[in-house]
Amino acid sequence: MSNGDPVIEARGIVKWFRDPVDTQVLKGVDLKVMRGEFASVMGKSGCGKSTLLYILSTMDTDYSGELLLDGERITGAPHEHLSRLRNEKIGFVFQFHYLIPEFTVLRNVMLPGLKRGLLTEREVEERAMTHLRTMGVDHQAQKRANQVSGGEKQRVAIARALINEPLILMCDEPTGNLDSRNSDIVLGIFKGLSAKGQSLLVVTHDEDFALNTDRTIVMDDGRVVDHGKEMSV
Ligand SMILES: Nc1ncnc2c1ncn2[C@@H]1O[C@H](COP(=O)(O)OP(=O)(O)O)[C@@H](O)[C@H]1O
Ligand SMILES: [Mg+2]
Repeated sequence: MSNGDPVIEARGIVKWFRDPVDTQVLKGVDLKVMRGEFASVMGKSGCGKSTLLYILSTMDTDYSGELLLDGERITGAPHEHLSRLRNEKIGFVFQFHYLIPEFTVLRNVMLPGLKRGLLTEREVEERAMTHLRTMGVDHQAQKRANQVSGGEKQRVAIARALINEPLILMCDEPTGNLDSRNSDIVLGIFKGLSAKGQSLLVVTHDEDFALNTDRTIVMDDGRVVDHGKEMSV
């Protein structure tokens, strides 16, 4: 795949929530993230950013429109196939880290790698340690996840999301619960990943953060109102 190819592409994504009343949350979203691109998504609270990210990451399949991952149409694909694609190709970082609190930091990072089953446990462990080192939290590897600070947890979550060398890393307000010092650390990590060619799609409410990305996609009321650059859909 060349640099000019989208890693993920959404065409006309429409999403309704039926409960408590019928509400159309996404009203036809077109979006592309190109290989190696660091894209950010901004927009008012409630405009549909998280909803969109859940769909793009294949966790929510209840939508209409079309989704392509790495050139493959994945809309309507069987659950098991999506689950495998997600584990192989998408790294996801939530606003809240969702680490397993009673497992060690190292084990948390290793889990998606073990699930994938391509490498031996030893190899997965080595790779996990490399990522923890890049994130500056390798000294916490043997601590339980609930014994490290909030900023460290978020960096552990990023290491976990990277364990299977995903095509794209998607993050929903990854600095939303961090102080400015830790936010800067996380931004620095993303910039470093981007410099190495990692594709990133990051939802943020932090304008300074967005200014540091290649392109900012702006959403309003369930639509993309600015692609940040000319985009031929
Ligand atoms: N599970 C749900 N059921 C019903 N409405 C929801 C659900 N999740 C989100 N919404 C509504 O969808 C809209 C968009 O939410 P969300 O995608 O979380 O926005 P953002 O991430 O941009 O703040 C909001 O009005 C929210 O209340
Ligand atoms: Mg949100």
